[in-house]
Amino acid sequence: MKHSIVLLPGDGIGPEIVAQARGVLEAVASRFGHDFSFSSHRIGGIAIDETGDPLPAETVDACRSASAILLGAVGGPRWDDPSAKTRPEAGLLRIRKELGLFANLRPIKLFDELADASPLRADIVQGTDILFFRELTGGVYFGESGSSGEGEDETAFQSMTYSRREIKRIVRMAATAARERSNRLTSVDKANVLEPSRLWRRVAAEVMTEEFPDVQYDVVLVDAMAMHLINRPADFDVVVTGNLFGDILTDEASMLPGSLGMLPSASLGESGPGLYEPIHGSAPDIAGKGIANPLATILAAAMMLRHSLSLHAEADAIETAVAGVLADGLRTADLARGDSEAISCEAMGAAVVKKIAG
Ligand code: NAI
Ligand code: MG
Repeated sequence: MKHSIVLLPGDGIGPEIVAQARGVLEAVASRFGHDFSFSSHRIGGIAIDETGDPLPAETVDACRSASAILLGAVGGPRWDDPSAKTRPEAGLLRIRKELGLFANLRPIKLFDELADASPLRADIVQGTDILFFRELTGGVYFGESGSSGEGEDETAFQSMTYSRREIKRIVRMAATAARERSNRLTSVDKANVLEPSRLWRRVAAEVMTEEFPDVQYDVVLVDAMAMHLINRPADFDVVVTGNLFGDILTDEASMLPGSLGMLPSASLGESGPGLYEPIHGSAPDIAGKGIANPLATILAAAMMLRHSLSLHAEADAIETAVAGVLADGLRTADLARGDSEAISCEAMGAAVVKKIAG
């Protein structure tokens, strides 16, 4: 079967890391006998430079008809002029909206070989492997807002809203993913205080009882979850939560592995192509030097195979290859410690390709 993959390299280190991820996907295609076709399109700063628009219509069209999308990163100091009409990040926000991507997936997996990079003690973080599902298009970030009054009475508000439909679809998606992992799902809310959280808790329980009775399910309050992530992160498997709580908890959790260059993410909608990317930015400080860590983007490509193309063995093969190169002691500069010598972005990509080829 033919899969058409749209590449959006973007700015800074984006083109370097996406090139390595593409090489890895080509290695998967040849080992497993798949037909992946690639086309590259503009997004972010480079799209502003060349077309005046951070998300040209041509890019949107290509994305809509793709099987899946792999993005590098957008932005950089060159486009930071506050008087500019448009910013690179606007392209990213718009593509998520255009494609109806309501679920943000963030796996937080600690590779044993990198346990010493974590700010937490190795005996606490060892074994951490969490998959977050953050609701991305609802909640307080999109609620009604306004302000009124003057002086000491100046007041502002922003309301948190969730509908039954919005809650159901993300809980279903997370529970389905839990079935493919350790069959455990934790829903995080603030139902002791917030009305939309009470609805969230009720609807989530309904979905779990009626559709996923086989999945072990529990609920945790968001403030308690913030503590558990530091105290016993290895106890969680799949976690589902709303937009605001997910924003904060996933950033907190992203610090657990201790290296930004290792963390992928995905944004998915009900149907249509998913968008896969590293969680880090365009790293303008190291762009063009050939020293960026491509593993987050390579792991994002693995997520793409698993969640958009249902190629599970192929996704596993990439993740095993990444663990393998780390076990061999290969490190890009961001991961290198002490006397260990760092390898280039390209060399890291090539090492993963070699493992996959076997
Ligand atoms: P950043 O993630 O780009 O960089 C933070 C630090 O981590 C830098 O020292 C960088 O060199 C390092 N780093 C990041 N990724 C790395 C990798 N793969 N290998 C080795 N080192 C890596 O965040 P920063 O500096 O706050 O933002 C830079 C630009 O990226 C800004 O324009 C920002 O708006 C944009 N950005 C874009 C995102 C996206 O496209 N999704 C997400 C976050 C930031
Ligand atoms: Mg955030």
